[in-house]
Amino acid sequence: MSESPLPDAPACGRNRGPIFEQLQRLLADRTHVLEVGSGTGQHAVYFAPRLLHLVWQASDRVGNLPGIRAWLAAEPADNLPPPLHLDVDGHWPDLSVDAVFTANTLHIMSAESVRTFFRTLPQLLQPGGLLIVYGPVKMAGEFIGPSNGDFDRRLRERDPLSGIRDLEWLDRLAGEAGLAREELNYLPANNQLLVWRLQNGGEQ
Ligand SMILES: C[S@@+](CC[C@H](N)C(=O)[O-])C[C@H]1O[C@@H](n2cnc3c(N)ncnc32)[C@H](O)[C@@H]1O
Repeated sequence: MSESPLPDAPACGRNRGPIFEQLQRLLADRTHVLEVGSGTGQHAVYFAPRLLHLVWQASDRVGNLPGIRAWLAAEPADNLPPPLHLDVDGHWPDLSVDAVFTANTLHIMSAESVRTFFRTLPQLLQPGGLLIVYGPVKMAGEFIGPSNGDFDRRLRERDPLSGIRDLEWLDRLAGEAGLAREELNYLPANNQLLVWRLQNGGEQ
């Protein structure tokens, strides 16, 4: 048993069902998923045992690893290895995966970190690999739902470098990294689930 307390992100309990409905379909033929910014680890422990055909690799910055380890100890699964240290700004594990999933991270990271995220992805995502991003985005400069405008203001008050990103900008960064968007899914609470695919031979 782990000694660390289990961190709780209540939103995970609300959004994991709708996200899983999409992941089940998108990850049916995948073998190795890297989750970037796993946070508490609650998504990992929910998704992994429901996707036993693949390995779910959780990761985050160092400060979040004890909490993730605590969740993995409390709810272990054979396809859920210990979380890895991954800081988009400087520390990427040596991995090769056919999908990357990240939830509620691109509006928390600085714009520079988001750029680094996309630029670095092709180093570990196999050609044909999927990038799946869950969270709120803006489209044509507009928030999707009024609550996202309030959320964006609160984010920027707390950290001026954070904020809800423009889908067109994400598409541009993705394109520069050799990824092409295949899907935009509308999920509850004004969140979107975006899917890009690394094109064959699509190096940086
Ligand atoms: C709002 S939390 C979301 C956590 C979890 N994915 C969820 O949906 O509950 C934002 C996450 O982004 C991670 N994050 C922020 N900057 C990062 C960076 N530079 N590299 C890796 N992760 C980062 C944080 O550590 C945190 O886990």
